[in-house]
Amino acid sequence: MKKNILITGGAGFIGSHVVRLFVTKYPTYKIVNADALTYAGNLENLNEVEDKGNYVFEKADITDGQTIDDLFLKYHFDAVIHLAAESHVDRSIMDPLSFVKTNVLGTGILLNACRVHWKDRMEGKLFYHVSTDEVYGSLGKEGFFTEETRYDPRSPYSSSKAGSDHLVRAYFHTYGLPVVISNCSNNYGSHQFPEKLIPLAIRNIKNNKPVPVYGKGENIRDWLWVNDHARAIDFIFHQGKKGETYNIGGFNEWKNIDLIHLLCEIMDRKLKREKGTSAKLITFVTDRAGHDLRYAIDAAKLNKELGWKPSVRFEEGLEKTVDWYLENEAWLGHVTSGAYQQYYEDQYVKRK
Ligand code: NAD
Ligand code: TYD
Repeated sequence: MKKNILITGGAGFIGSHVVRLFVTKYPTYKIVNADALTYAGNLENLNEVEDKGNYVFEKADITDGQTIDDLFLKYHFDAVIHLAAESHVDRSIMDPLSFVKTNVLGTGILLNACRVHWKDRMEGKLFYHVSTDEVYGSLGKEGFFTEETRYDPRSPYSSSKAGSDHLVRAYFHTYGLPVVISNCSNNYGSHQFPEKLIPLAIRNIKNNKPVPVYGKGENIRDWLWVNDHARAIDFIFHQGKKGETYNIGGFNEWKNIDLIHLLCEIMDRKLKREKGTSAKLITFVTDRAGHDLRYAIDAAKLNKELGWKPSVRFEEGLEKTVDWYLENEAWLGHVTSGAYQQYYEDQYVKRK
């Protein structure tokens, strides 16, 4: 079936995996990637698909209503998969309002464009909102987030994502906009900007720099391979029920410090360093303000209703991830020059 699909944030980490998957798997879909190319957006992530006939890039800011309106007039979208966001918790602590602007206002502008442009015919249309498990807040040692868990976001990032989720549901209930939402746990894999834990640690270990672990490293995250997130988005896009929410997770909880030790072992092996060399770089630093203790997703609904489950074990996914970063030094070099150096300085060097 022919479809024109707007993917927002397609030059970012997860977005680039989703764009790659949809462009190659569905040649009859026209994929329009709209991205503002902030520090986190990198068209190099899309080298493999940039020449494909069913792929178009549009540099566009989702907070600019006129630009979004023009895109809807130009392409007559049948569906939107919305990933564009400010996505890093530490940055949200430094600059909360840019998160409110992009994540809340930007989502509102996209929803409104759908409402206006689809008002005569909602049938066959879909607004797919990609969200995070962080909207549910922080767990103690027990329990899991289900789709029924009460929202309790605690960082500017997660609260801005929660705000965007509420807006999506409001457009479903008020205007009958066909929507679907997924809330996913922490992703890891290739093309992730090295401000997030795993690529930052890989880069620092490689360069013999300290590996910063916040607090005592006891916080727990549920890690999912990014390619499995993209597969889940494919399942939900094609089979998900309108108005529903699906949790996506890796069934894979790790304490930060245990994860870093595993990563150090892999890096020692890959870099042919003596066992224990990389672990010496672990450095405990001041904890993140309001640091959520534990995230853990119950993804049973997605598994039972749509048949999705993760395809790789964490140890295997992490090895592949390390290999990718070691083989793509040029990519790392490009994304870590300029503004990133300043961010790194503010976050880790000045803070000590
Ligand atoms: P990312 O930061 O790597 O990429 C975000 C992309 O959005 C970038 O390409 C950036 O240029 C673009 N963007 C930012 N502001 C924009 C604007 N105003 N207009 C247009 N484009 C803009 O983020 P990511 O990790 O790939 O996350 C993608 C989505 O998935 C986000 O909505 C995030 O909340 C969600 N999510 C991420 C994770 C994770 O572990 N990374 C987990 C669950 C959900
Ligand atoms: P991160 O990758 O920023 O994702 P999120 O905050 O969305 O979960 O961080 C993952 C975990 O690792 C989180 O508990 C914070 C911690 N962390 C560190 O200990 N050191 C670091 O340098 C970073 C970036 C994160």
